[in-house]
Amino acid sequence: MKLAVTSPLPVAVQPRAPELTVVQPASGRLTAAELIACQPDALVCLLSDRVDDALLEALPRLQVVANVAVGLDNIDVAAATSRGVCVTNTPDVLTDATAELTLALLLATARRLTEGEQLVRSGQWRGWALDLLLGVPIAGSTLGIVGLGRIGGKVAQLGRALGMQLCYAAPRPVAGAAALGAVYLPLRELLRQADFVSLHCPLRAGTRTLLDRDALALMKPSAILLNTARGELVDEDALCEMLETGRLWAAGLDVFCNEPQVSPRILACPRITLAPHLGSATTKARTQMAELAIDAAVSVLRGQPPKTLVNQAAWPPRGQR
Ligand code: GLV
Repeated sequence: MKLAVTSPLPVAVQPRAPELTVVQPASGRLTAAELIACQPDALVCLLSDRVDDALLEALPRLQVVANVAVGLDNIDVAAATSRGVCVTNTPDVLTDATAELTLALLLATARRLTEGEQLVRSGQWRGWALDLLLGVPIAGSTLGIVGLGRIGGKVAQLGRALGMQLCYAAPRPVAGAAALGAVYLPLRELLRQADFVSLHCPLRAGTRTLLDRDALALMKPSAILLNTARGELVDEDALCEMLETGRLWAAGLDVFCNEPQVSPRILACPRITLAPHLGSATTKARTQMAELAIDAAVSVLRGQPPKTLVNQAAWPPRGQR
């Protein structure tokens, strides 16, 4: 049986399954055409690999798609389920790293660290001044968390440690939120009240452009938007317009609509902290993510249900029914 991995794995993470032939590029990425030529039984892919119905159709031997990511918006899970293909993801192991990156963006944006660094590096800094690069306070301000799942919950803990007031929006109230001190609010009310709005919900049909022009317009002009989830949750043009016209104070973005392209308008926006989708980017988290995905793919091919199966209806997969 064949296991294809679309990009090179960390050296420490190689499949320990002598019965499998592993196909992975030495560098770069396996293209869809190369995958089709390879006809794998299992596929380990990244969030930037699109696994749509057409690709699934062209891979009739495939039993499992193991995404090295917690988000699944790059995979047509419904199409996989209807074809009897298992889909797995990598929850938990990236929770701390992603929440910590959110905190880094929050702090950097509130305290204008990027602008400060540019000023120092440019040689234009003329010394300490009472009004130089004034930021906004964090302690005592309100952090609004959109999506109180694992990552949102960890962000809540970190925000609380900074002395922030917490509120959250979610499809329904979350058990355990009260213990975090987080108050449940409808999204529109959260947008009106929060000083910081941080997105932690999955991208799916119902959340695409969740923050559209009207929703963004509800935010306080002094507020900061943080996005470490998916770019498509936000109308980027509307966000730029709000920042350009001073109707929103600042934003910290780790994700974009058309990665790795970032629109020139975003690049030109004032008070915006940018990161290249680094949420889970620690050696520990990325190693554990790769291990989890490989383990899931190997489990399925060995006839054992993987721990991180997201489409229970696809178990057992085709070829094992
Ligand atoms: C990262 O964005 C992930 O979904 O794991």
